[in-house]
Amino acid sequence: MIRRREFLAQTSAAATLLACPAIVRGQNLNSRLQVAGIGCDGKGWSDIKEMSDHAQTQMVGFCDIDLARTEKVKQLAPDAPVFQNFKDLLADQGDKIDAVTVSTPDHMHAYITLDALAQGKHVYCQKPLTHNVAESRAVAKAAKESGKITRLGNQIHSHTFYRSAVAAIQAGLIGKVKRVHSWSSATGHGKSGHISVPKNPPPLPTSVNWDLWVGVAPMRDYGGDRVYHPWGWRDWQDFGNGALGDFGCHIFDPVFTAIEMNKAPLSMKADHSGMNDQVWPAQTRVEYQFPGTKWTAADTLEVTWYDGGLLPSVSGSHVPPTDALPSQGSLIIGDKGTMVLKHMGRAKLYPLDQYATDAFDDLPSLNHYHGWVDGCLSGQQPSDGFDYGAKLTESVLLGNIAVRYANKKLLWDEPAMKITNHNEANQWLRRDYRAGWKLDV
Ligand SMILES: NC(=O)c1ccc[n+]([C@@H]2O[C@H](COP(=O)([O-])OP(=O)(O)OC[C@H]3O[C@@H](n4cnc5c(N)ncnc54)[C@H](O)[C@@H]3O)[C@@H](O)[C@H]2O)c1
Repeated sequence: MIRRREFLAQTSAAATLLACPAIVRGQNLNSRLQVAGIGCDGKGWSDIKEMSDHAQTQMVGFCDIDLARTEKVKQLAPDAPVFQNFKDLLADQGDKIDAVTVSTPDHMHAYITLDALAQGKHVYCQKPLTHNVAESRAVAKAAKESGKITRLGNQIHSHTFYRSAVAAIQAGLIGKVKRVHSWSSATGHGKSGHISVPKNPPPLPTSVNWDLWVGVAPMRDYGGDRVYHPWGWRDWQDFGNGALGDFGCHIFDPVFTAIEMNKAPLSMKADHSGMNDQVWPAQTRVEYQFPGTKWTAADTLEVTWYDGGLLPSVSGSHVPPTDALPSQGSLIIGDKGTMVLKHMGRAKLYPLDQYATDAFDDLPSLNHYHGWVDGCLSGQQPSDGFDYGAKLTESVLLGNIAVRYANKKLLWDEPAMKITNHNEANQWLRRDYRAGWKLDV
């Protein structure tokens, strides 16, 4: 029986701040961090609301391509100007803005983030960090060179459930990690209600600037409410990354943090329920092989991803077949025990008769958003900045490249940024940018 007194609180898991060499502030040397929000509704609203709730922030500008989605932010900060184009926001309010939140659909993350970093702004960007691997590399490099404070919008990283699970693994409660299965009930298509481009869409609402919404992607017509904008874009390959893109960064995060996985996979192989050239599959499974770390039992680690309702088998774990797995989460099999980590749930350790329910401490939740604000004010870079976020995102995005070549094991040369055994697959590491939206990555 492993009891609480045997649990060693691991400062490495609790610590979220790393030293940054210099105080980093924008041009506004008042006591408040002056923040602008890009993408004002959906997740953008909660990002902006959380940032504005910090005692030392002031919201100084907003941007949304859809003016009908700016009512809430206007009430939050009536004096802050609202723009449809983030370039106008940065040009007009640039000398007031210290930091920006980027909460747009995935295909625009890199374009906006790279511009904001180049203009000396701290950036909080939603997950996944980018839409393709080349963009992730470019954003990580730009963030490092800028010295600005960055954070991936993986807010559950700071929640008690994930922090406590990370600490429990790093305390050795389940031993060295032998095998990982992670899954989400989300599906790669279904949010938009379409699997092909809709014919005869309704007229574009007058509040929307469609050219700005499409941005870097190839132009297509507005499809109707929630087909692409808002929300439905996740399904579409040109804009989103399916269920793996939507949930992979969240669900892999505690696993990667616990085992200090700071490398991309060595290989990935996928199968799925069928796909076309527009939307992601309803169900995918991706088998990754990662290099081992000091927390793994061997010098490689097999990690399998499932979505759309697919679940792993518990065979090979300490979980009895009679126990139901949660609809989303991870099964982390160690050489002493197994952790079932529900997405947004307290970790459960198996065999149940060998672990007391208080076998590990529940670390308090931290405010992820405020942690970034505090970092911007103090010059302390959170440990899950864009360096971490880019590597996590790269792993997720490589899984989706494997999805495009079902049942083919793709070998990844991380330093060379190249799939070495299937040249054609390398085309998906980057995209062609629409005329007028060129990004040099
Ligand atoms: N961390 C989380 O738990 C979480 C949850 C949901 C979504 N997300 C992420 O947040 C991002 C947004 O997702 P969502 O579900 O809110 O999408 P959404 O389409 O519902 O909302 C996006 C908002 O951004 C606006 N927008 C779109 N393009 C823009 C642009 N170029 N410039 C300015 N504004 C623009 C839209 O009008 C809309 O208000 C995605 O990256 C998504 O993965 C994260």
